[in-house]
Amino acid sequence: MNRRNFIKSTALAAAPLVITNFKLFGAEAASNKLNLALIGTWGRGEAHFDALLTQNVVAVCDVDEDHLAFGLAKFPGAKTYVDWRKLLDDHRVLGLDGIVICSPDHTHAFITNWAMNRGLHVYCEKPLANTIEEARSVRANYLKNKKKLATQVGTQRHAFQNFNRVRELIRDGAIGELTAAYAFGNRQLPKPGYLPAAGTPPSTLHYDLWLGPAPFHPYNPDYFSGKSGANCLQWNMYWDFGNGQVGDMGSHTMDLVWNAIDAAPPTAAEAKGDPYNPEVSPVMLETHTEHPANHWRGPIRVGWYQGGALPNSPRDFIDLNKIGHGAMFKGTKGFLIAGFESRILLPFGDDADLTYYKPRKKSDVLPPLGHFQEEWFKACKGNLKTSCNFDYAGQMIEQMLLGLVAYRAGERVEYDAVAGRVTNLPAANAFLSRQYREGWMLNG
Ligand SMILES: NC(=O)c1ccc[n+]([C@@H]2O[C@H](COP(=O)([O-])OP(=O)(O)OC[C@H]3O[C@@H](n4cnc5c(N)ncnc54)[C@H](O)[C@@H]3O)[C@@H](O)[C@H]2O)c1
Repeated sequence: MNRRNFIKSTALAAAPLVITNFKLFGAEAASNKLNLALIGTWGRGEAHFDALLTQNVVAVCDVDEDHLAFGLAKFPGAKTYVDWRKLLDDHRVLGLDGIVICSPDHTHAFITNWAMNRGLHVYCEKPLANTIEEARSVRANYLKNKKKLATQVGTQRHAFQNFNRVRELIRDGAIGELTAAYAFGNRQLPKPGYLPAAGTPPSTLHYDLWLGPAPFHPYNPDYFSGKSGANCLQWNMYWDFGNGQVGDMGSHTMDLVWNAIDAAPPTAAEAKGDPYNPEVSPVMLETHTEHPANHWRGPIRVGWYQGGALPNSPRDFIDLNKIGHGAMFKGTKGFLIAGFESRILLPFGDDADLTYYKPRKKSDVLPPLGHFQEEWFKACKGNLKTSCNFDYAGQMIEQMLLGLVAYRAGERVEYDAVAGRVTNLPAANAFLSRQYREGWMLNG
């Protein structure tokens, strides 16, 4: 008997006992375990094993039966699936509360939507979506369900306390008025184009399910030759599977900016980078988006630089390239430069005397977020509060993807963020969505 049925039957037979139990331990108590499914049981999935062991993993799913066996060894007794749609069909039988998605990027928006439509909490690895249409559909679906579902995108660096220290410095005026923000990353994964057909898939790999909604591409073992946790680098440069560094490190690094600027989706974007390749995303890319003013700052521009592109350093002695993946905030009185775990403040100009900086009281310092996956467990058990829910993360990836739309269009695009349409260049709207293989529905 699973936990839900147990609670249902005991609630009928002995209602006071159940109520007392919740009073004693509380709905959010660690002893109150969630029934979860893990989709993608090797690679990034492995990084979730320890946290998941604190809950009940009742089902595991992977398109590679060897990987599935690897996951099952960790969660013996879990029901196994190779097709996530079948797992979701069984959600009632399994008594599922939620799912953790660690499959490739081109499946994320599909699985999240399908799961939310079945009343399930969702933790989804980054990036949340591969297109603006996907990002908007997942976000809208979450907003409809936000009073009952807990969602989290797997940008676990968000739990580093540095993220909120950066936010506080900006909000408390350490660089004066914020005028621009930039995120950058130096990962380079050049690929010439889709891989040629080579051999046949191993008998353990359900290749057609791996392709899922993506257009057909012939099997090539190189898509699968990466080491555990880094195999995404074998396929994420190809447009039909990923978005290169925008979805990859961009999801983490822009989070450092997004957490600090309280931005609404952009009203315009422009971009430049490597020559456009219809098969693979660019190595070098620079995008800029424009965001309206909010209640604490004026309008700002947000830049994303990847693969060798970098914003200008405010001083020669600061080599932004050495940060690897980082962010820079420009204000009227200086700069704040940050990596994921540390930051430097650079007051700039003769009047940058910090008298305008009003550090908050110790008691107003933002509290540590704690363990990132546990934040989601706790949210599923009751409070529904997570730091990277699909509203926050959906808007962030929509912003980055608009930069890619401008790159693909080869022109500045103006954007109506309410309608989700490019307004000045109708042809660019073709880049907001993608063609899926027949039989795959984004919001099923
Ligand atoms: N948060 C982080 O720091 C971080 C780090 C690495 C990867 N990731 C993300 O995790 C995801 C997986 O990356 P990876 O490197 O583990 O990739 P991967 O190619 O190794 O895939 C992970 C697992 O998913 C399985 N899989 C593939 N398609 C599936 C499907 N349709 N249904 C079920 N299982 C499927 C694979 O067989 C594999 O076992 C990516 O979206 C990536 O962006 C996040």
